[in-house]
Amino acid sequence: MRVEAVTAKDADAIIDMLKKSFFVLEPLNSSIGLVSADGGCPELEEYCRVVVPTGFSLCARDESDGGMEGVVLNAILTPADSPAPETARVRDGDTKFDKILAVNHAVELAHDVFAAHPDVQEALDVKILATDPDRGKKGVASELMRHTVELARARGLRLVRCVCSGAYSARVVERLGFSKLGGLPYDEFLGLDGQPVFRPPPPHLAITMWALRLS
Ligand SMILES: CC(C)(COP(=O)(O)OP(=O)(O)OC[C@H]1O[C@@H](n2cnc3c(N)ncnc32)[C@H](O)[C@@H]1OP(=O)(O)O)[C@@H](O)C(=O)NCCC(=O)NCCS
Repeated sequence: MRVEAVTAKDADAIIDMLKKSFFVLEPLNSSIGLVSADGGCPELEEYCRVVVPTGFSLCARDESDGGMEGVVLNAILTPADSPAPETARVRDGDTKFDKILAVNHAVELAHDVFAAHPDVQEALDVKILATDPDRGKKGVASELMRHTVELARARGLRLVRCVCSGAYSARVVERLGFSKLGGLPYDEFLGLDGQPVFRPPPPHLAITMWALRLS
């Protein structure tokens, strides 16, 4: 496998891969049925397209055919990116994508990486981590995350942050030495009806916040 930087010209290929991976398999997207019958979700697609050309996003390619085995979409995060508290809960009229943002915002606010590291003003944030299920290769996500950490270090960043919605990505970052700041169990994130908004199957029981300090 070869890990390389991606640019805007890779966006369509990345979205195609994510549509059969992250869009449908990521525990929150899957549990809420985010994707419509035609396989699309314009809000998630736009979210991903913005993060492709940050200069910090990477893909893993098969050395033999050049095909994309996985992708990690990263971006710089500062304390100014902290979400507004009202966006951290489900509100009337929320779309499914809004609900996914809400649980992400809830864990971001509950376990603020900059509060835990007050001397740091800039972190690399892992926004999307996904592998191609058709290729079925193991270890791709770990390799992408290892390169992400190396890239952050090479650019002089002192912190990498990763919100993990599932147990598998959490295992990847824990093995790389990330520390868990905390988590929010899915059965405690309730909608307007008082019921859990997301019910992903075990082992995906909580959304968790992880950070790796580089210096
Ligand atoms: C999560 C994801 C990126 C992991 O990619 P990967 O290349 O399989 O990850 P790795 O092989 O580097 O390691 C993942 C760990 O989770 C385990 N794992 C991954 N998929 C698994 C599955 N379907 N069942 C059981 N364990 C699984 C792996 O065995 C490994 O743990 P281990 O080495 O202790 O056995 C990939 O499954 C994926 O794209 N999922 C859909 C999108 C998603 O959920 N992204 C993360 C959101 S935060």
